[in-house]
Amino acid sequence: MNDPTLQEIKDRLNVADVIAGYIPIKKAGVNFKAACPFHHEKTPSLIISPQKQIWHCFGCGEGGDVFGFVLKYENLEFRDTLKILADKAGVKLPSYRPENKQQQDEKEFLLRINDFAARYYHKILISSQTGKAALEYLKNRGLTDGTIKRWQIGFAPDDFHALEKALATKKVSSADLVKAGVSAKNERGQMYDRFRGRITFPIYNYFGETVGFSARLLKENPNAGKYVNSPETSIYNKSKILFGLNFAKEAIRKKDEAVVVEGQMDCIAAHQADFTNTVATSGTALTEQQLAQLSRLTKNLKFCFDADAAGQAAARRAGELALKLGFRLKLVILQSSAQSEDQQLAKDPDELIKKSPGLWEKVVSEAVWFLDHYIDQADALFPPGSVEQKMYLSKEVVPFLAFVSDPLEQDHYIRKIATRFLISEKVIRDQIKPGNQQISESPFAEASGDRSADKLISKTGSGLLLQKEVLGGMLFFLDFIETIGRKIALEDFEDEEIRKLVNIWLKSGAKELSVNEHPLAKEAIFMLESQLGELEGNREILRKNLEKSFALFKVSALKRRQQSLQAEIKAAEVAGNKIRLDELNREFADVLKERSEFEKNL
Ligand code: CTP
Ligand code: MN
Repeated sequence: MNDPTLQEIKDRLNVADVIAGYIPIKKAGVNFKAACPFHHEKTPSLIISPQKQIWHCFGCGEGGDVFGFVLKYENLEFRDTLKILADKAGVKLPSYRPENKQQQDEKEFLLRINDFAARYYHKILISSQTGKAALEYLKNRGLTDGTIKRWQIGFAPDDFHALEKALATKKVSSADLVKAGVSAKNERGQMYDRFRGRITFPIYNYFGETVGFSARLLKENPNAGKYVNSPETSIYNKSKILFGLNFAKEAIRKKDEAVVVEGQMDCIAAHQADFTNTVATSGTALTEQQLAQLSRLTKNLKFCFDADAAGQAAARRAGELALKLGFRLKLVILQSSAQSEDQQLAKDPDELIKKSPGLWEKVVSEAVWFLDHYIDQADALFPPGSVEQKMYLSKEVVPFLAFVSDPLEQDHYIRKIATRFLISEKVIRDQIKPGNQQISESPFAEASGDRSADKLISKTGSGLLLQKEVLGGMLFFLDFIETIGRKIALEDFEDEEIRKLVNIWLKSGAKELSVNEHPLAKEAIFMLESQLGELEGNREILRKNLEKSFALFKVSALKRRQQSLQAEIKAAEVAGNKIRLDELNREFADVLKERSEFEKNL
């Protein structure tokens, strides 16, 4: 974090202005207040201090500097956040991180090649004889000139070397063309254009940079795949990119809802009809990384996958993952009634939007809750009270209940299924107990471990708040360390960054003043100063409060310790290791005793 470029960016930006660009903020004395975007709340508890250039939420404990806010809010990686902020600050990022410079330069070069290809294909589509048929085809499908331009849709000539020739005057090696994904090499090492005789849809990253293409056949051809796509490259990470997100992100945030469709034509048609909060999976399974990107913009999802079997299977898989990540999920049903295929309105969103944008708006607004849909299906597909119906519920519906992270919501569904289908609640509850879930072919099995949804999406919660309070106490009241001194252990701090700071502070005997410059430390001190303000400057009360917080902090740390000891005890029992078992039991008793001491102070 000592990077001079980063410092320059921070110096030029005002944390309040940047945050105001994302959420409404209000002046409150020398500070600003806002409703925290990182947890649900009605009264604003996020405070921004322009003086200290930090922000902190007193509700959930999140906080940091301008960089941390954008990183969290946009849910981006370090480098990408830097890019956004550099742009806001008007700072050029020439060669960030010298050790990566070569890699970075290469990526930029590959982006430029893809950008060139997009413009080249687009030009052929809109202004050449070669592209005429394709242009007509697209117009026939209802795309306007504006849409074709906005998405830079193009046409790749049916020629093995068209792009290569177009690039001849530029200094681009064949190796670069292959790395960029636009060309390939045959077994004899000869180069050829990957996309030929196809309509090209550029694929953009979050920032609107072209990272690849999805190219569609103009006329159905049984001997060729309908789509040819760019391969995975150093700029195109397929599991991360969502088609259309660059154009959709603002609308998703504003409407607080994202509509996810399968095909890029569906996505483009939706945007053209002004449903701009739409993104597409491009026909592959929705990944955890794609959902994580959406989760920063909204927690409300509507899936509209094609009405065919593949689309329905994709919806189930994606649904499982989205529920686990805590999304509120609905399904857009492309049938006017679940009863029969004949009543299908359209095979995919594109077709329906072309028929009638109003009808699309209607089905989207009438989307049903994901679980309700499958519950309704039980009635639609099977005779009431039949064994088949119960088997369907047990196999296809109940396992999903385990992924509902809100216990009240889960309870709601358990009761609903129990009453509606006359099944005992206990049977359902037993089936969804941890370890009893049966969606076995799930490709997301590895994501289901103990990484709870909340942890995945953010690590808010009082745990973090307490850690910050203890850190603040150590920095703010120098004698606080003496009081808590021997009771504190570095492992008590779950947050790695806080643990590091505490370590430096303790090791230096509270002398390493540079610790105070760390954004986390600034935030922790700011927290305590604000509390002091609310207590009208009464340091004694603040001290008392801090000691309470410390007790709470210790209790939660000791609880964790007990949990891990319990696991070790079990292992020792299984292994029949008597000596170890005695040792562990003694330690467990000690921890228990220590914990009850702290609990007395609460
Ligand atoms: N897809 C693919 N390769 C294929 C078929 C499909 O990559 N052979 C991807 C494309 O990204 C496509 C999406 O899966 O957009 C959905 O496929 P499909 O429904 O077949 O295509 P549509 O988008 O409906 O295309 P169109 O309407 O032009 O037929
Ligand atoms: Mn289609």
